Amino acid sequence: MIENVPVIDIEELEHADSLAAIDRACREWGFFQVTGHGIDQQLLADVMAVSQQFFGQSSEEKRRILRDADNPWGYYDKELTKNRQDWKEIYDFGPADGDKLKPRWPAGPLRLRFEPVIRAYYASCKVLSMRLLSAIALNLGVSGEHLARGFDDAHTSFLRLNYYPKYPLGLRDDRPLGVGEHTDAGALTLLLQDRQPGLEVRRDDRWYLVEPRADALVVNIGDIVQVWSNDRYRAALHRVITNTAADRYSLPFFLNPSWETSYEPLPTTVTAHEPAHYRHIHWREFRALRAAGDYADIGEEVQISHYRQ
Ligand code: OGA
Ligand code: NI
Repeated sequence: MIENVPVIDIEELEHADSLAAIDRACREWGFFQVTGHGIDQQLLADVMAVSQQFFGQSSEEKRRILRDADNPWGYYDKELTKNRQDWKEIYDFGPADGDKLKPRWPAGPLRLRFEPVIRAYYASCKVLSMRLLSAIALNLGVSGEHLARGFDDAHTSFLRLNYYPKYPLGLRDDRPLGVGEHTDAGALTLLLQDRQPGLEVRRDDRWYLVEPRADALVVNIGDIVQVWSNDRYRAALHRVITNTAADRYSLPFFLNPSWETSYEPLPTTVTAHEPAHYRHIHWREFRALRAAGDYADIGEEVQISHYRQ
């Protein structure tokens, strides 16, 4: 049997078998797919449809709601991973916060359909990702509420729409990536992908395709869970390769804590033989350092390894 990213039915998430399957997936892959997740199929179809409508607008229309350094929500087409330009366009939706952070919406009739679907999908992702976080907490020996503390109303999670245009064959010899290899910085990511291949995860010096499935959502753990677990779980490296056959759309929801949250290895993961591998990390400070790298053309992105001890 060829091993690949596990697919786990989470209809009975608290069941010992489901918890054990999740624990194993977090240890061996940092990635899994979930079926029986409870998000309405119609909502999944609707959010994919409005995403395609959004990116189908003219470039001029899309650029009217460009993100900027003060407000990261909106459209963007020049993302860098590790300072190299990715072959993709994005739209980010996150909650309003203070006077600066406000969602940006497309104009005209598209907004009427787009805004309620995006908000409804965001809300469903928040609920599902908190259920998954609670399962991970139990697996790490703490209560679900213990980890949920940083994710109350002030959480900074956001939903991203990714559009990877088909890459014309022969355009350039060194074909760019859709997204360069990276780990996700937050707690966990819930990803809806269409039927086009592209997402790959790194394990034991090999890249594995995360097989597109109509019945599943992809889950991957981020740096915060790696830190909490004191490296029992790894936030796996992943990337998106460009597709020369078709356009590809995906929608990651990044579950992120409130700005004032700090995290460090959980007491249940630290023993006399296994001291804490990280000193504590403050989410706002970490994001600020990392964002400096996102906007710069040179230099190295800040990683959790900077906090290793
Ligand atoms: C990301 C990411 C994967 C995909 O946006 O962080 O890893 O399939 N996306 O779009
Ligand atoms: Ni990612």
